[in-house]
Amino acid sequence: MRMYDVILKKRQGIELVDSELQWLIQGYVAGDIPDYQMSAFLMAIIFKGMTPKELGAFTMAMAHSGDMVDLSAIKGVKVDKHSTGGVGDKTTLVIASLVAACGGVVAKMSGRGLGHTGGTIDKMESIPGLRTELSEEEFRNQVNNIGVAVIGQSSNIAPADKKIYALRDVTATVDSIPLIASSIMSKKLASGADAILLDVKVGSGAFMKTIDDARLLAQAMVDIGNANGRIVKAVITDMDRPLGQAIGNALEIAEVIQTLKGYGPQDLTHECLVMAAHLLVMSEKGDYDTCYSMVQTALQNGAGLAKLRELIVAQGGNGQIVDDSSLLGTAQFAYDIRSSKAGYITHMNTEACGIASVMLGAGRTVKDGPIDMTAGILMHKKTGDAVVAGDVLATLYANDESLFEGAETAYVQALTIGPEESTAGETILGFVE
Ligand code: URA
Repeated sequence: MRMYDVILKKRQGIELVDSELQWLIQGYVAGDIPDYQMSAFLMAIIFKGMTPKELGAFTMAMAHSGDMVDLSAIKGVKVDKHSTGGVGDKTTLVIASLVAACGGVVAKMSGRGLGHTGGTIDKMESIPGLRTELSEEEFRNQVNNIGVAVIGQSSNIAPADKKIYALRDVTATVDSIPLIASSIMSKKLASGADAILLDVKVGSGAFMKTIDDARLLAQAMVDIGNANGRIVKAVITDMDRPLGQAIGNALEIAEVIQTLKGYGPQDLTHECLVMAAHLLVMSEKGDYDTCYSMVQTALQNGAGLAKLRELIVAQGGNGQIVDDSSLLGTAQFAYDIRSSKAGYITHMNTEACGIASVMLGAGRTVKDGPIDMTAGILMHKKTGDAVVAGDVLATLYANDESLFEGAETAYVQALTIGPEESTAGETILGFVE
């Protein structure tokens, strides 16, 4: 087989067969196929797409390029959830705690921040002492003992995706539905859960900018999962404004705790309850209405919060942060951004809000770079809110005061304030199964 012929076939829109796709993934991981040929192939996918059959085979070849985790020693239906990435998206820990508190079995592998989006593992590492690297045995034992574990993905999960993602990042081939679907699903299939709930984000802070594209991506991922024997559903959620009020690692963990105490932001609480209920349905705990009232009760009676404490302690973290979030630490400096005019916030460029937070130190600017756990933004006004001149729009947190100027400019430019009254709109925009 020659890579030249595979690229040409894809360029001509002829369907590739499974053996060609397996050969090219194996050859690329082994270093036999150079980056320039893989780049040409990826660009051909951007223009020609992939048939469902090609997408299934390509994804499975990527999943099998590394370890396929075996969770069969864990009792019950193992569930996982995955977000396509957003700003202020701290739903994982709320949902995992609620689902486990209701008897679900959450075996979750999460990622780190990517570009302007945050990652659960970075957020969890703002909790003093907490370990996100557990051995497979520790992971299985913890899930069997307390019903939940959230850990970082081991380095040998879908190594083909790792290599291809790095190439896509620098060859303008990230925003392709088949490439995103195969990237996410290869990791999910390799991670071993029986049932996966996908949170497909849409809007100015997401990879998918339109609801139609979000639906196509959701359907492609659901189809890949189902074809491989997994129960997969997708919720399409709004990312045209950041989720909740906090952006930044320790600030977001504090908001997770607030939410599990029952006084979190309404948008975040609603999304978490809906997704937790869907996961319980997938765990065969009842129909949607029954499962929704189960998670609502777990939120109201503190069972979800107690489960979060158990999870933190089981992974070596300081469980007292649940009673006292100041133990997460606070940034040395805070700066209020005030509105220069009156009106309504009609839009938030959510990617730019995420970038402002990265500029304060909350995200990485270079691969594997350091992050400041206490840096970030607390938003006091969001889309749909009325403001008068002088109102505090947001508070910035950093450990270096010189970072405020650039972050303030980026954040203010991200907001559109106009005279017309506006509403924030729904947070849950669709469901695909
Ligand atoms: N997240 C992933 O893991 N891969 C993509 O391609 C996009 C988002």
